[in-house]
Amino acid sequence: MKFFDLMRLFAAPRPICEPGRVADADDLAALHAHAFRHGWPSTEMEALISDPTVTTVVAREGRTPFTRRPIGFVMTRAAADEAEVLTVVVSPARRGRGVGRLMMDETIRRLYFMRIASLFLEVDENNDSALTLYRRLGFREVGRRANYYAGGTANALVMRADLK
Ligand SMILES: CC(C)(COP(=O)(O)OP(=O)(O)OC[C@H]1O[C@@H](n2cnc3c(N)ncnc32)[C@H](O)[C@@H]1OP(=O)(O)O)[C@@H](O)C(=O)NCCC(=O)NCCS
Repeated sequence: MKFFDLMRLFAAPRPICEPGRVADADDLAALHAHAFRHGWPSTEMEALISDPTVTTVVAREGRTPFTRRPIGFVMTRAAADEAEVLTVVVSPARRGRGVGRLMMDETIRRLYFMRIASLFLEVDENNDSALTLYRRLGFREVGRRANYYAGGTANALVMRADLK
């Protein structure tokens, strides 16, 4: 066996993106609770995953289908030909490695095939990693909600990406 083949055996496998399942509810609630002060309980996650207007894309890591665990997820809700991002989360230990980009690319691909024309989101203007991610994906600022986050001390940017 060549050296590089051997290295591949020990290298961490790349995460894969799949649709969310009801069985993911506890893991997604835990990921969400790490990132946001107002967590969503598992029961709410279950309801969102089961909602036909909600698209849930989960990034999973692990060597086999049996050991793969969620390390991040994106949820969007569609209405007519528009959709909004409900949440985007990557496990703190996995940030800055392209997982957010991978999940958003997969989400946008799915929404495109659902004939969604525009995707909206709100983001704290001080959230540099999220802003970089969204701008790279083609989101542009279309509005601003003053004093929306952090007890009224941070503004929210409203952003839109045209998918068609
Ligand atoms: C925002 C978040 C989802 C990004 O996920 P991620 O996996 O770390 O992002 P990626 O590694 O795919 O990086 C996407 C881009 O952002 C850049 N980036 C990553 N971390 C950054 C940081 N701290 N500051 C500035 N840019 C950053 C990357 O370089 C990359 O840009 P590139 O394509 O030019 O290289 C993740 O940080 C997170 O879960 N944060 C907490 C929850 C949150 O704030 N969600 C968004 C709410 S609107």
